[in-house]
Amino acid sequence: MQILVLGAAAGGGLPQWNCGCPNCNDARTGKIPSMTQSSVAVSLDGSSWVVLNASPDIRMQLAANPQMHPPALRGTPISAVVLTNGDIDHIAGLLTIREKTAFDLYATQPGLEIVESNSVFRVLDTALVQRRQIDLDTPFEPLPGLTITPFAVPGKVALFLEGETVNVEELGDQTVGLMLEGAGHRAAYIPGCATVPDWLLDHLDGVDLLLFDGTVWNNDEMAQTGTGQKTGARMGHISMNGEHGSLARFAQFEARKIYIHINNTNPILQPEAPERAEVLARGWEIAADGMEITL
Ligand code: MLT
Ligand code: MN
Ligand code: ZN
Repeated sequence: MQILVLGAAAGGGLPQWNCGCPNCNDARTGKIPSMTQSSVAVSLDGSSWVVLNASPDIRMQLAANPQMHPPALRGTPISAVVLTNGDIDHIAGLLTIREKTAFDLYATQPGLEIVESNSVFRVLDTALVQRRQIDLDTPFEPLPGLTITPFAVPGKVALFLEGETVNVEELGDQTVGLMLEGAGHRAAYIPGCATVPDWLLDHLDGVDLLLFDGTVWNNDEMAQTGTGQKTGARMGHISMNGEHGSLARFAQFEARKIYIHINNTNPILQPEAPERAEVLARGWEIAADGMEITL
């Protein structure tokens, strides 16, 4: 199984258009690598690919990675796109891949509802782009030999669907992880997750690879960096640090572990940061655009 990181950043990317924080400024000057928004591609044969989440940066991502280039005068190696939730960083790229080339679009009911109810997505010709509903704990096979099973993880509805009150740890089909199985290997892709309960650790037991929500280091990181008031928890993202953070929760977890969906405020993006050293010392890798993983 081949996994290609198209975009390692959380919503906004690195640099984010309106952010003058040290990380974003360092990305602008090339001191640290820029990152595009949250997406990975998966293949078994290196020629047909499934893209997990369609980022607003997908045009750049497809240009930057030769595996994603058209195999003919018109066409794409992308057979399918699968959505894990309805946030802008995971769906806006659908509008970019609208030029009359066929692929299947897989999403749970809330994701498909967003696509159906917003008329702008009608640019994806339904004769070419088949909408296929996927259901929790029900495997589907977007490529021959590649099985994907969506499972609920604690999370919230898309930002633009939030009402007066928001359950940030809702367990339903609005936020899913994807279990990828093929060629004798299993990988889990979870770019958004609010908490790591024991049952989730059990569910992930035995995977070869975990790609997991690395949005923030500290829950109150946006306030600390002066970039905003929202906590990681309020955004539906567990922090790495802290007693109930992902570093602690996955401390005994045996698998290759890679943080992905990393926010531009996260101190691990700085090469010399103690937070980065700690993450690496605790056995995690940090995703970067263009990273290739073979299982
Ligand atoms: C998130 O992961 O919290 C979202 O990307 C927020 C957004 O849609 O901007
Ligand atoms: Mn996001
Ligand atoms: Zn920034």
